[in-house]
Amino acid sequence: MFKGVLFDLDGVLTDTAEYHYQAWQRLGKEIGITIDRAFNEELKGVSREDSLTLLLAHGGKTNAFTSEQFTELAARKNEYYVEMIQQVSPKDVYPGILELLKSLKRQGIKLSLASASKNGPFLLKKMALKSYFDGIADPAEVAKGKPDPEIFQLAAKNVGLTAAECIGIEDAKAGIQAIIASQALPIGVGRSEDLGTDIALVSSTKELTFEFLLSIWNTAKA
Ligand code: BG6
Ligand code: MG
Repeated sequence: MFKGVLFDLDGVLTDTAEYHYQAWQRLGKEIGITIDRAFNEELKGVSREDSLTLLLAHGGKTNAFTSEQFTELAARKNEYYVEMIQQVSPKDVYPGILELLKSLKRQGIKLSLASASKNGPFLLKKMALKSYFDGIADPAEVAKGKPDPEIFQLAAKNVGLTAAECIGIEDAKAGIQAIIASQALPIGVGRSEDLGTDIALVSSTKELTFEFLLSIWNTAKA
């Protein structure tokens, strides 16, 4: 049986993936770059700086800014995002998530956060979920962000496990790639068009029960 679950946050525990999108859109508009939801799939799960690099490349503006301007743009996007998440509360936790966290705890399974977001601890607090987590991987500690496996390996290590002993839950393509590379077992929240057809998927977090996770694990390890 799996010993830990490594959770992404934005788009898995709550709908903040949408706020990231809106904040990038707002910044993009200010610098003359239009983005749509299809392009946003490329940004999901990706660190703030790597997202900005992708955004600039998308708009053909890779060399348009100095490194100081780049830093300012990343900070500005974060300001927009932080403004939006001030109102997040326990009501914003996605359906089924609280029940899942509780049942995993009852089963003695370790819970660890593997979010690329530096705002992760703040959001866990706002949603009153912090006490459920045995570990939080600090994205500032990893050299390479998703799709590199490092953040999932760190999240597992923080709770005394290897990633191979864990399930990883993600809504982003880059995140699923990171989970697979870490040797954890992936479960995707989203559509096969975005996340692929070769992994277990749910269309709603309501489907994420302990029994479901166990059946995915048992099937994969049979
Ligand atoms: C990930 C989001 O969880 O965190 C990305 O999916 C985001 O969209 C990344 O860029 C970094 O977040 P933050 O809050 O540190 O800018
Ligand atoms: Mg996510």
